[in-house]
Amino acid sequence: MVYWIHPVFQVVATLLGLYALYFGWQRPRCSHVGCTVAFPWKKHVRLGRWAIALWLVGGLVGVAVVRLEWGGFGVTDAHATIGYAFLVLALVGYGTGHVLDKVKKRRTVLPIVHGVVNALLVLAALVQVWTGYSFLP
Ligand code: HEM
Ligand code: HEM
Repeated sequence: MVYWIHPVFQVVATLLGLYALYFGWQRPRCSHVGCTVAFPWKKHVRLGRWAIALWLVGGLVGVAVVRLEWGGFGVTDAHATIGYAFLVLALVGYGTGHVLDKVKKRRTVLPIVHGVVNALLVLAALVQVWTGYSFLP
């Protein structure tokens, strides 16, 4: 039972992340191509914050369960390697988003770094389903 907490958290977070990415994508699309629907700033920020917070909490649950039940770290091979890198990158994704939200001004580089990092997180989360499911009881 305890093994399922982490995967459930990560799958819910990934669905929210996909939704945040869908809204985030409206931003560059609107600035460069032109669009009819404005970038839903507040909705994107709310979804993004929930997605990354759940990923981080769920990730720490995974680490704790491996430590307590299997007595170590990195037991899950590729899932662990990607997982630990993911947790660091998630802090970057959250931090850049927080700055973009709180300190508003015209920018070029930071939104791109933020968008690319977070799109990578969504992709990595989908890969983690593949690398992680075989460890479930
Ligand atoms: C954003 C996505 C995910 C991240 C960042 C992540 C990260 C991690 C990390 C860091 C660990 C500890 C690894 C170790 O020290 O060996 C872990 C354990 C584990 N992960 Fe994931 N994971 C993710 C998604 C998933 C998914 C979708 C599944 C299942 C389909 C899964 C299944 C597991 C299992 C079974 C464990 C063993 C501990 C436990 O069940 O709580 N993970 N994960
Ligand atoms: C899974 C989570 C997230 C994804 C996939 C995501 C994705 C994106 C993408 C693709 C963009 C467009 C970047 C560009 O214009 O080049 C964007 C913009 C933005 N994101 Fe996120 N994001 C996430 C989380 C967050 C969080 C947690 C926050 C705030 C705490 C945030 C705040 C913003 C803001 C304010 C912008 C507009 C930046 C600007 O144009 O000045 N995002 N996001």
